Amino acid sequence: MSARPAGLRRPLVVVALALVTLGALGGACAQPEDGPVDGSADGASDVDPPSDPVHDPLSRPVTPTLSPADFHSATRCGACHVQHYAEWSRSSHAYAVVDPVFRKLVAIRQADFEGAQDQFCMQCHTAIGTRGGEVVPNFRFEDLSPIVQEGITCEACHRVSGLARVYNAGHVLDPSGPIRGPIEDPAESGFHASEGSPLFRDSAFCGACHDVLEVDGLPLERPYAEWLASPAYADGRTCQDCHMPTYFGQAAPLAPERDLHSHAWVGVDVPLEPSFATPDVVAAIREEVAALLDGAAGLTVTGPAEVRAGGQLDLLVTVTNRVDGHSLPTGSTFLRQLWLEVVASDASGRIVYETGGLDANGDLRNYWSELDPFGDPDLVSFGSNFVNDRGEPELFSWRAALHTSTAIPPGYARTVTLFVPVPGDATGPITIAARVRFRSVPPFLLRKLDLGRFVPDVSVFDLASAALTIPVASAPR
Ligand code: HEC
Ligand code: HEC
Ligand code: HEC
Ligand code: HEC
Ligand code: HEC
Repeated sequence: MSARPAGLRRPLVVVALALVTLGALGGACAQPEDGPVDGSADGASDVDPPSDPVHDPLSRPVTPTLSPADFHSATRCGACHVQHYAEWSRSSHAYAVVDPVFRKLVAIRQADFEGAQDQFCMQCHTAIGTRGGEVVPNFRFEDLSPIVQEGITCEACHRVSGLARVYNAGHVLDPSGPIRGPIEDPAESGFHASEGSPLFRDSAFCGACHDVLEVDGLPLERPYAEWLASPAYADGRTCQDCHMPTYFGQAAPLAPERDLHSHAWVGVDVPLEPSFATPDVVAAIREEVAALLDGAAGLTVTGPAEVRAGGQLDLLVTVTNRVDGHSLPTGSTFLRQLWLEVVASDASGRIVYETGGLDANGDLRNYWSELDPFGDPDLVSFGSNFVNDRGEPELFSWRAALHTSTAIPPGYARTVTLFVPVPGDATGPITIAARVRFRSVPPFLLRKLDLGRFVPDVSVFDLASAALTIPVASAPR
C-alpha cells in the first residue's frame, strides 16, 4: 500500500526552489559529473538510468564517475592550512563516516533493503566513496579506503565546481580542476591551482547536502528551505555567517593576512566515538555547543496573581525560536529532542506538578519510554516524528509514510496552557521553574541501536529558563 500523500508533492516545491537558486548563481552551475543525475549522460550503460531524471535521490552513478585515488587526504592540506585542518578534524564533517549512530542506522537500512539502497545514506556523508564506486550493495565500512573514511574531507567541498540541485548531494565534483574557495585573489600555493568561486559564500553550497529527501520523496531535513523563508535570508545572512564565524589571520604560511572562516562547524552534536577526539577536545566541543544553544530559544511563563489551595493554576508558557536562520530545531529533527520542562513546588519543597521529567532510563515519558509510556500527558516537545502507514510512530525514515513536525519556524513562537492542580494542603507560595531542554539523541534510541554504552556521554543542554512565584490564598473556611 502506498500511503505517502504529503510526501509525494513536496519534492516538486524543492525542485522549484533549486531552479530559482541556480538561476541566481548563474555561471557557477556546471553540468553534474554523475551524468545520469540529469539524464544527459552520453556514455553507454547497461544499467537503467533513474526513472526520474531530475529527482534521483540515490545520487546513483551508473558507473563510478571519479576515482577516490584522485583526492588528497586532509592531512596533506593540513601541512600548510594548519588551523583549518585542526578545526575540520574535530568537526561533524570529519565525523560523518566515523559516527557510530550513522553506521548503525546504515546497517539497519542495509538489512531492510538487502543492500539495494546502500548509496542513499552514503551520498552526502561521503560523496567521494559513493561516486567512486566503493559503496557497492552490502559494502562494509571496514573495506572503505582511508580517503572515504575521512567523510566530508577538504576536497569533498573544495573540488566542487557547481551545483546540480540544492538537495541530496547536489554537488558537481571535479577532481581535476583547481582548488576552489572564497578568496578571489589567492596567493600562489605551490601545491594546488586556486580559483575564487562565489558559490562558497552561498547558503546553497550547504543546502546541497543539508536538504535531505528520502528515496520516495519524503522530506527529512530542510534547513536550506527553511532559511529561504527566514528573516536571515531577507537581510542577507547565510549559513556561513552563523556557522563559520570569521577570524583574522593567515590561511597558510607566507599568505597575506585576511578574514578567515572557522571550519569547526559548531552545531548540536558532540562526538561519541572515543577514537575520534580526546576527552579534552570533546569537553571543548560540548562547551561550544552549549554556547550556540544558549539563548536559541526564548521562554516566558505567566500565571495568575494568586491561587487558592485546592484550586487550579493556569500557566501560559511561550517558547520562541530566536534562531532567525531556520526552524528550532532543524536538520535531523527526528533524532533530536527539544522539550519543555515545568516543575511546580510548594513552600515545603514538595513537587505538586511536573512535566518534561525523565524516567529512570533517562527517557522522556512518551510513547517510547520503556518504564512509563504515556506517563507525561502534558509533555510539550518540538521536533519531528515519523509515522508508518498504520498511523503508528516509527523510528526509521525508510519505514515511514509521513513525517510530522512541531519544530518552530524562524521568527515564530508557540504558546501552551498548562493546568496545574494545587493540593488543598499546599503551603504557599507555589514556585514554578521552567526550562527549554535539548539533547542530540535520546537514550532509548541509543539502546535500540546497541549503543547503550554511550548514554552517559549525551548531555542535556538548557536553551532558556524562567521562574515564577505565585502566592497561595488561604482556603475559604
Ligand atoms: C604548500 C602549501 C599548501 C598546501 C599543501 C595546500 N595549500 Fe591550499 N593554499 C595555500 C596557499 C598559500 C593559499 C593562498 C592563501 C591566501 O591567498 O590567503 C591556499 C589557498 C587555498 C584555498 C583558498 C582558495 C580560494 O581561492 O579561495 C583553499 C580552499 C585551499 N587552499 C584548500 C587546500 C586544500 C583542500 C588542500 C589539500 C588538498 C590544500 N589547500 C593544500 C597553500 C597550500
Ligand atoms: C542566524 C544564525 C544562523 C543561520 C543563518 C543558520 N544557522 Fe544553523 N544553527 C544556528 C543555531 C543558533 C543553531 C542551534 C539551535 C538549533 O538547532 O536550531 C543551529 C543549528 C544548526 C544545525 C544543527 C541542528 C540539529 O538539531 O541537528 C544544523 C545542521 C544547521 N544549523 C545548519 C544550518 C544551515 C545548513 C544553514 C543555512 C541554510 C544554517 N544553519 C543557517 C544558527 C544559524
Ligand atoms: C563542508 C565543506 C568544507 C570542508 C569539508 C572544508 N571547507 Fe574550507 N571552506 C569552506 C567554505 C564554505 C569556505 C568559505 C566560507 C566563507 O567564505 O564564508 C571555506 C574556506 C576555506 C579557505 C579560505 C580561507 C577561509 O578561511 O575563508 C581555506 C584555505 C580552506 N577553506 C581550507 C580547507 C581545508 C584545508 C579543509 C580540510 C582540512 C577544508 N577547507 C574543509 C567549506 C569547506
Ligand atoms: C558534502 C555534504 C555537506 C556539505 C557540502 C555541508 N555539510 Fe554540513 N554536514 C554534513 C553531514 C553529513 C553532517 C553530519 C555528519 C555526522 O555527524 O554524521 C554535517 C554536519 C554539519 C553541522 C553540525 C550539525 C550538528 O548536528 O552538530 C553543521 C553546523 C554543518 N554541517 C554546517 C554546514 C555548513 C554551514 C555548510 C556550508 C558551508 C555545510 N555544512 C556543508 C554534510 C555536508
Ligand atoms: C542529502 C544528504 C544526506 C543524506 C542522503 C543522508 N544524510 Fe545523514 N546527515 C546529513 C546532514 C547534512 C546531517 C547534519 C544534520 C544535523 O546534524 O542536523 C546529517 C546527520 C546525520 C546524523 C546525525 C549525526 C549524529 O550523530 O547526531 C545521522 C545519524 C545520519 N545523518 C544518518 C543518516 C542515515 C541513516 C541516512 C540514510 C537513511 C542519511 N543520514 C542520509 C546529510 C545526509
